[in-house]
Amino acid sequence: MKGIVLAGGAGTRLYPLTTVASKQLQPVYDKPMVYYPLATLMLAGIDEILLISTPDDLPRYRELLGDGSAWGIRIDYALQPRPAGIAQAFLIGEGFIGGDSVAMVLGDNIFYGRIGLDEIVANFTKGAIVFGYPVEDPRRYGIVEFDDDGHVVSIEEKPEVPRTNLAVPGLYIYDRCVVEHARALAPSPRGELEISDLNRRYLERGELHGIRLGRGIAWLDSGTHESLLESSNFIATIERRQGLKIACLEEIAFNKGFIDIGHLTRTARAMPSSPYRRYVERIVEGAQNGEPLPQLIG
Ligand code: G1P
Repeated sequence: MKGIVLAGGAGTRLYPLTTVASKQLQPVYDKPMVYYPLATLMLAGIDEILLISTPDDLPRYRELLGDGSAWGIRIDYALQPRPAGIAQAFLIGEGFIGGDSVAMVLGDNIFYGRIGLDEIVANFTKGAIVFGYPVEDPRRYGIVEFDDDGHVVSIEEKPEVPRTNLAVPGLYIYDRCVVEHARALAPSPRGELEISDLNRRYLERGELHGIRLGRGIAWLDSGTHESLLESSNFIATIERRQGLKIACLEEIAFNKGFIDIGHLTRTARAMPSSPYRRYVERIVEGAQNGEPLPQLIG
């Protein structure tokens, strides 16, 4: 399965922060925001990733992430010339997807906790998968309704009168038909190819599967100053308590077997002296001493 990180949009709500760096490059505690969705895909075992962003921001992502070889993965880049909807990502990414299935994560979505995405991806064959996560303010999101057997019965984008409080997080899995479905979409009244319209095409064919995320999972949103601060505080709280980092891409890459100990050592040595480098060096030292790796969650 391939992966897409969609990091488009102007992020105007975060002005003036977003004047020189887009939303998904802002810090969430000790890392750029985009590290977290990248970690989500890597934890799922995905090692071919397309990052889509705006013409202004794409060079900055390239500078930050390169071709992915630091983490033993491949990162390609593509432009979204103007924000025309989340579902446009599949038209932009058509060549990259190339008839494979694909997981897409939005660049400002942070997940923490055991979703089991690696197993979900490994067992995926057909259709599409969305998740449902309880939120306080359902009118801000795509909203999903499940029947008693867990089948999706409705999905609506930012409904005035939500049928449930289950928001659809920005993490989706699609089979190879996704490009064809995206091509059949008409722009919504706000001129965008809506992800909820795409999901509804799968729903109408009986091919949309929904998975409820339990309350033990954190799904954080970082699009406002308040939620950005909350995300930073959340990550800082867990990291400082455990002494383990969330979304340390080097640790995940090593743990997943994308890179070996030699590669990890060289990557650490190339980093400037910093707490982040020290953390990666500790992983190297632990591995050299034959200590078991801290268990990853994802
Ligand atoms: C988008 C989607 C929405 C989803 C949300 C998750 O909304 O359209 O269905 O629930 O992302 O972050 P946006 O945040 O772009 O308004």
